[in-house]
Amino acid sequence: MRIGILTGGGDCPGLNAVIRAVVRTSVKEYSSEVIGFLEGWRGPLENMVMPLTMQSTGGLIHRGGTILRTSRTNPFKVDRGPERILDNMQKNRLDALIAVGGEDTCGVANRLYKEHNLNVVCIPKTIDNDLSATDFTFGFDTAVNIVTEALDRLHTTAEAHNRVHVCEVMGRDAGWLACYGGIAGGADFILVPEKPIEAQKVVQAIKTRHSRGRDYSIVVVAEGAKFAEGEAGVEAGETPEQVDSFGHKRLGGIGDRLAKLIESQTGFETRATILGHIQRGGSPTAFDRVLATRFGVKAAQLVNEKKFGRMVSLQGSTLTDVAIEEATGTLKTLDMELYGVAEVFFG
Ligand code: F6P
Repeated sequence: MRIGILTGGGDCPGLNAVIRAVVRTSVKEYSSEVIGFLEGWRGPLENMVMPLTMQSTGGLIHRGGTILRTSRTNPFKVDRGPERILDNMQKNRLDALIAVGGEDTCGVANRLYKEHNLNVVCIPKTIDNDLSATDFTFGFDTAVNIVTEALDRLHTTAEAHNRVHVCEVMGRDAGWLACYGGIAGGADFILVPEKPIEAQKVVQAIKTRHSRGRDYSIVVVAEGAKFAEGEAGVEAGETPEQVDSFGHKRLGGIGDRLAKLIESQTGFETRATILGHIQRGGSPTAFDRVLATRFGVKAAQLVNEKKFGRMVSLQGSTLTDVAIEEATGTLKTLDMELYGVAEVFFG
């Protein structure tokens, strides 16, 4: 068989490990050939390709980013987008495509499968862990570890200066990263998109903590968290250039806003740190390397069995596959039972 692979949406650690696993399994186990499409869905739209061999994808397991690069291109927003993708699949004599992505990339793959009969298999990735029908996406564990390390560092400086530190982490619609990172990093309050921010509760929790003799606090806030009274965090994405082709506004600013509010209402000096893309860069953790490798091997197997329209998935510790549409229908928001565990440590 001849197989194409692309990586779409925001990058995350583990993408290169997936590419390596897909190529090795396809070439070594099934004598197939693999080519890479560059920059997400832009690759098959514009016919931007590169050959992939066992040699060229060797030694990649530890490398962050993606050798295929990525973009947030939406082919359904482009004139004759789906037709151009099918043409380029044919030009490259491809039998199937593997799309590695989150909700947007897999959503496009599902439409191409359903509406245009594209032979496609998906692999779930995102640091947000908000894709349904899989317990974990790769990239998430690495990001959690980065947040945890950042909180450990903020803790020591917060304690030295008697300050409150607000740490803004990624998470547009889901608070998985804020919650896991916050629990691991011993946060004194965690704010997530699933639960509107009740400013007075945060202020009270910090005051209570300080009244017990603690002179510093750590607050974690997900970039997509919003104030209860319907007041959104400062959104930078007001101009068309700051809204991507899937309609997502660029977020950021809630951490600063919250820090000002905490300082004015508690009287404690408060600083904000935005972790931003540091959370998406660098080497994957061992967990993500293994998960990405398992996903890549399984996706190559599915293609070989011609099981199209499927996404590889981790359920418990078992690797399985599900219909792509099961993953893309609704976002997997934070398990509020887990948030309940975090709440025990607030204040
Ligand atoms: O990939 C998802 C994500 O990490 C979100 O948490 C965040 O809102 C977004 O990416 C930022 O994307 P970009 O790098 O395109 O601004």
